[in-house]
Amino acid sequence: MLDQKVAKLLNEQINKEFYSAYLYLDFANFYEERGLSGFANWYQIQAQEERDHAMLFYQYLHNNNAKVTLEAIAKPDVALENLIDPLKAALAHEEYVTGLIHTLYAAAQEVNDFRTTQFLDWFVKEQGEEENNANQLITKMDLFGSDPKGLYMLDNELSTRVYAAPSLVL
Ligand code: FEO
Repeated sequence: MLDQKVAKLLNEQINKEFYSAYLYLDFANFYEERGLSGFANWYQIQAQEERDHAMLFYQYLHNNNAKVTLEAIAKPDVALENLIDPLKAALAHEEYVTGLIHTLYAAAQEVNDFRTTQFLDWFVKEQGEEENNANQLITKMDLFGSDPKGLYMLDNELSTRVYAAPSLVL
């Protein structure tokens, strides 16, 4: 049986991941409105990945006979003006999520819940990749984004991203 505090944090993480999906869909929406369908594609796929993350927490709780409580998902609250704003907001958001995963990991470790720490290992690694991707996008935008041809090519590059289901199977 899961420790109460660990179960509560795992349940809260479902909501955080769905919020992340909603936030990234808002970023996709921002780029779609500006004719940058490659950037929009990138964030639509990012949103899909976040929904997958939410479902992994959902399923993990069910697999461990814990109760799942679904709460309201907040409205995306990031003000977007410049083309680089979503990229910077995405990095800040991923750093925030990394903090949540680490807090969860520490809580599981404190009660010797090795099953949960093992489950979370995938997310610890995933957060490293997410932060790295977000950082790289900012760097590319800084380098090429102010030149129309550079922006066009970057948008083309991001349009080639395809969805892949998570490698973690429960
Ligand atoms: Fe669910 Fe982008 O981390």
